[in-house]
Amino acid sequence: MQRHLTQIVKGMPTSDGAGVQLKRVIGQPKLSELDPFMLLDDFRNNDPKAYGAGFPPHPHRGFETVTYMLEGQMEHQDSAGNKGLLRDGGVQWMTAGAGILHSEMPKQTDGRMWGFQLWVNLPSHLKMTPPGYQDIQSEQIPEVQGKGYTVRVIAGEFQGTQGAARTLTDVTYLDVHLQGGARVELDIPAGNNLVVFPYSGRVKPGVDQGAAEWIDDGDAGIFAGDGALDLYARESARVLVIAGAPLNEPIARHGPFVMNTHQELVQAVEDYNAGKLAPNQWEFLQKQG
Ligand code: CO
Repeated sequence: MQRHLTQIVKGMPTSDGAGVQLKRVIGQPKLSELDPFMLLDDFRNNDPKAYGAGFPPHPHRGFETVTYMLEGQMEHQDSAGNKGLLRDGGVQWMTAGAGILHSEMPKQTDGRMWGFQLWVNLPSHLKMTPPGYQDIQSEQIPEVQGKGYTVRVIAGEFQGTQGAARTLTDVTYLDVHLQGGARVELDIPAGNNLVVFPYSGRVKPGVDQGAAEWIDDGDAGIFAGDGALDLYARESARVLVIAGAPLNEPIARHGPFVMNTHQELVQAVEDYNAGKLAPNQWEFLQKQG
């Protein structure tokens, strides 16, 4: 069956961390998850009061967090000793695996802060994998130009160009820029779940799909079926295209932990309370004040 739009989900305004205002696209009542994606946040804000306090130290276990920064600067530090400054167009791909504590703090005092965070679930055999970290600068992300479009390949593949991120699972993450009147065809691996998220302008499935709806800025279009994804923009548009192979495993989630069973969640909380979630847990918390 051809790939087709099944649902449009509006981002839900909420706040997280130390009061950072954002819109939650995946991980909210209307779309609790899109296997393997547990969360997609869009944080765009001109007001430092609404983002300045950032995301102070907190733990994760059982999945990966992927932060894509459009504008602004965010400093990352974690209990595995990694430190990096995320800048315009850069990506941080962090594998929490068995456990990590990190902080994500804005390094700017004015101007706009705009980026996205995606949570990629890990299969049971990788949940307790050692933590990892990739700091990918904007210039390391390959860009493929076509007629009226540019595709930034963050993960996965587009027209034979491999994404900048090494991934543990089958994930495609593309940032697609369309000029007005342009169309692009994207090959998405068969069987993948797929979300299309315009963050500027609007797009619609471009192939003959009857009265296909427009997907507006800030809304998520969920697709089913196999085959290529065709996108069309009447005016210029920018859109995230994110796809992944579903894990089809039980999900037990609580706050910053995503596991398979309730018992594993209890264990994660106990490990955290005992200072054993990550090596150097207490040292990291002390150093971060
Ligand atoms: Co985090």
